[in-house]
Amino acid sequence: MISIFRAKIQAFQYFCSMARRKTLKKEQYQLFDNCFNSDVQNQGNWKSFFGNENPITLELGCGKAELSYGLAQMYPDRNYLGIDLKMDRMWRPAKEAIEAGIHNIGFLCLHLLSIDEHFAAGEADEIWITFPDPFPKNRQSKHRMVNATFLDLYRKVIKPGGKIHYKTDNTELFQYSMETFVEYQDIHFHQLSFDLHEDDRISEDKKVKTTYEKQFMGMGEKIKYVSFSFDQV
Ligand SMILES: C[S@@+](CC[C@H](N)C(=O)[O-])C[C@H]1O[C@@H](n2cnc3c(N)ncnc32)[C@H](O)[C@@H]1O
Repeated sequence: MISIFRAKIQAFQYFCSMARRKTLKKEQYQLFDNCFNSDVQNQGNWKSFFGNENPITLELGCGKAELSYGLAQMYPDRNYLGIDLKMDRMWRPAKEAIEAGIHNIGFLCLHLLSIDEHFAAGEADEIWITFPDPFPKNRQSKHRMVNATFLDLYRKVIKPGGKIHYKTDNTELFQYSMETFVEYQDIHFHQLSFDLHEDDRISEDKKVKTTYEKQFMGMGEKIKYVSFSFDQV
């Protein structure tokens, strides 16, 4: 009886310390020079944040932003912006980028339904969508980051012909996504793979692993990948 009580106290203390750490990360995130939240209005001016005219890649639902972080190091002549709802997830890569002097990466805390209020038409040169939550139930489909509502917004902020890269482990979500993508008249598919990491046709920069990617690959899942653009005029 006493040991159950002790275990409950320990669990409670653990959750309190997790909550404190989250709060601290959120506070620090807001002080970092490379971090923004939805109050900041930078629409049309992201290149001035980076201080150059280099192309901008957005990683949507970036979580801990390993992909953007890896690509920012591989391609110093491009700019990367990780975007996520959760500040505390972006805290570590933001801190590490500052400590490592990596200036071509930034972070933006935002609900993606308002992305078009934060980027001008065509301001993004490239987009990555990495392992979005599947929201498997039909009634949850409005939350899927690859449904038509979200895609219409991405289509607004990416330049015509700019590539959108998408990867997921989830077969049902991938199928749903492809069915959604093909509805666009002006869509142009570039590459498709049902096993990204075993596919020699796909370049290594597409294989930088995110947290979820490592997790799902560890469980034996194959990673599905597609790249496409909207060739609107
Ligand atoms: C399954 S995680 C994947 C994280 C990361 N891309 C990876 O591969 O490790 C999905 C991420 O999308 C973010 N997210 C979900 N819906 C979002 C939305 N509407 N706007 C912004 N971020 C969102 C979540 O906060 C979460 O960090």
